Parts: sequence; C-alpha cells; structure tokens
Amino acid sequence: MPIDYVLVTGATGFLGAHVVDELLARGLRVRAAVRNLAKANVMRDARPQYASKLDFVQVADFTANISFEEAVKDIDGVIHVASPLTFGVEDNERDFLLPAINGVATVLKAAAQASQIQRVVITSSFASVIDVNRKAPPHFTYTAADWNPLTYEEAADNKTSEVVAYRGSKKFAELAAWDFVQKEKPGFDIVTLCPPMIFGPFVHPVARLEELNDSAAKLWEVASGVDPMPLARVPFWIDVRDLAKAHVESLLRPEVGNRRFTIASPEKFSYQKAAEIIIQKFEWGRDRIHLPETEQKIDQSHDLDGETAARELGITYRSFHDSVVDFVRQARSLEATQKG
Ligand SMILES: NC(=O)c1ccc[n+]([C@@H]2O[C@H](COP(=O)([O-])OP(=O)(O)OC[C@H]3O[C@@H](n4cnc5c(N)ncnc54)[C@H](OP(=O)(O)O)[C@@H]3O)[C@@H](O)[C@H]2O)c1
Repeated sequence: MPIDYVLVTGATGFLGAHVVDELLARGLRVRAAVRNLAKANVMRDARPQYASKLDFVQVADFTANISFEEAVKDIDGVIHVASPLTFGVEDNERDFLLPAINGVATVLKAAAQASQIQRVVITSSFASVIDVNRKAPPHFTYTAADWNPLTYEEAADNKTSEVVAYRGSKKFAELAAWDFVQKEKPGFDIVTLCPPMIFGPFVHPVARLEELNDSAAKLWEVASGVDPMPLARVPFWIDVRDLAKAHVESLLRPEVGNRRFTIASPEKFSYQKAAEIIIQKFEWGRDRIHLPETEQKIDQSHDLDGETAARELGITYRSFHDSVVDFVRQARSLEATQKG
C-alpha cells in the first residue's frame, strides 16, 4: 500500500512547515503534530486550499511525559522533525539531550504499536556527524559513515557549551532511533537525514523577526548589518526547500529504507558571501552592511557528501544566491510591516 497519510512532528517550525507543504503539494494527507494550537491555527488559515487534507494534533513538550498514541492513529508514515534548537538554555541535559532523545523514543514507540506505519524519517543533523578534532590535511569528506565522538557525559556537562550540547542531543537522539530499530524490530524501517545549516524562505508562523529560527536569525543578522558579522561554524548548508523534498523522497522511496544520509549543497558558504549577495541584490543592503576588514575565508580543507543523497533521493540543490535572496526579500518585507 502506498503511503498516504503522514504524521509530521515539529510542523510549526522552519523545516517542518516546508515538509508539510511538500507532502500536501504531492497530494498526500498530513497530520501536523504541534505543541501550540495558536500556531496550528495560523498554519491552517494560511492553507485554505488544503483544509480537507491537513489536520492537527496537539502533543505536549518532549520534556513532559508524552504519548503519541493518538497522533499515529490511521497514519502510515511519519516524518519526525521536532527537536530543541533554541539557544540560551539553562541545563544541557534537561533542555537539549533529554527532550531530543525522549522525542525520538516516544514517536518510535507509538509508531511500533501502529502496524500500518511503513516508514519513519528522522531529521538528524550534521551535528551528529562532525568531529571537530578531525583536521586536514589530508583533505577529507564527511559521509554518512561518520559520527561525532562526543560522549553523553561531555554533552550533558553544564560546563560544555550549548552548541556542543546540541551536537550531543542530535547524536544520542539519532543513535536511540537506530538502537530501537535494531532491538525492537518494528514493522517499519527508518531513514535519517543529517543536514548542516539550513537557509531559505520560511512558511511557518513567524509574526516578528525576533521569532525566526536560529539559522535564519543568523542570516538576518548579516542583512541587518550586525558588526562584527557572524562567523560560520561550518561552511556547509542546504536550502530548506531541497531538504523538505529530501524528507518526502526518503519517505516514499522504498529502496532507501534503513539508510542514513548526509545532505548538503556542493557550494560552500560564509556569512560574508551572504553579505555580498545581499549588497549586490538589494540597494538598502549597501547602506547597512559593512564587509569585514579581514576576509572571511571559506574552509576548503574538507567536504561533506551531498552527492549520495542527491543521486538516491533525486535532489538538485539550489544555489546559495537564490536561497539568500528568497529569504532576505521575505524577511525585509516582514521588517517593513513591523515598522508599520
Ligand atoms: N536550522 C538548522 O540550521 C538545522 C540544521 C541541521 C538540523 N536541524 C534540525 O532540523 C529540525 C528542525 O529545526 P528547525 O531549523 O526547523 O528549527 P525550529 O524552527 O526551531 O523547529 C524546531 C521544531 O521542534 C519543535 N520543538 C522544539 N523543542 C521541542 C520540545 N522540547 N518538545 C516538542 N517539540 C519541540 C518546535 O516546536 P514549536 O513550533 O512549538 O516551537 C519546532 O516545531 C530539528 O530536528 C533540528 O535539529 C536544523
């Protein structure tokens, strides 16, 4: 039976809302799992043409004792996107690791009880792949065979930075998924996707620029002329629309079951490169943005494999130029509305 009715977690987030739209555009039915019903209403009202294909289920925050039993009723495929990605947390384990792992565990446990579910696609991250101690030369390419070497204890330690704690949360949540499949042998298989920085336009409820998700907020800082300009932690990125398509392809292509993919545009980025695009494309950008005195050099010492995912999932990556322009144009118009 082809997959027809898909549960999407994190549906009111940056990536999740694109995944919802990609599924709807292909004629599938979607149940969006959300924490916040007000955001769900904004999502629904923005998609009147899909009223009969899109429904919402409220689920509690992953820090609580939650159940997805209701959420998976009648569902035959799941795309699990939700995971904490907001910095400024107080406790690494409580705010990053446990909710990320609990989210995966709860979704998979409920899915295992729903015999019609055929596949669960999980958004992991390049954060679960990167090994910051691995240095070129020689030149190397990260692939889906790589795992970051962090221990749980290091990630949970509150002396560890939040960025590192986030990396741990993605690693241990993804590992929990692979362990679950190995031990429980459920009726579904899984696919995990490990993207780096995600850019591009937003389709989830964002009433104010202050509500942008973390990666978009960084790009908006550049467009706002923040000085000093942020520095990229990694030179890899993907457009949110390409990544949403990859999630849906991962769900619908039987042959990719139980695969882990890294996924990234072959074109590397820096925030300076984004700034140059903004300056060239938007007149207002020239007034706001001052390029750094010392050029932000793009690290060419290593790569991230995006070719395997492109080939096996049928993805053609958008250019950094288009991704930046589409986002900045949209954010700039929101700024104008805010200023009234
Ligand atoms: N943005 C990036 O550059 C990037 C890069 C690599 C991987 N990822 C992964 O992509 C996924 C989506 O991230 P995003 O960029 O779309 O960020 P986002 O806009 O912050 O979305 C995160 C989603 O997860 C939900 N969520 C967060 N904490 C939760 C919790 N404790 N309990 C239940 N739900 C929770 C949020 O719910 P609300 O809508 O209610 O806030 C939101 O829908 C995440 O798995 C993230 O790790 C992101």
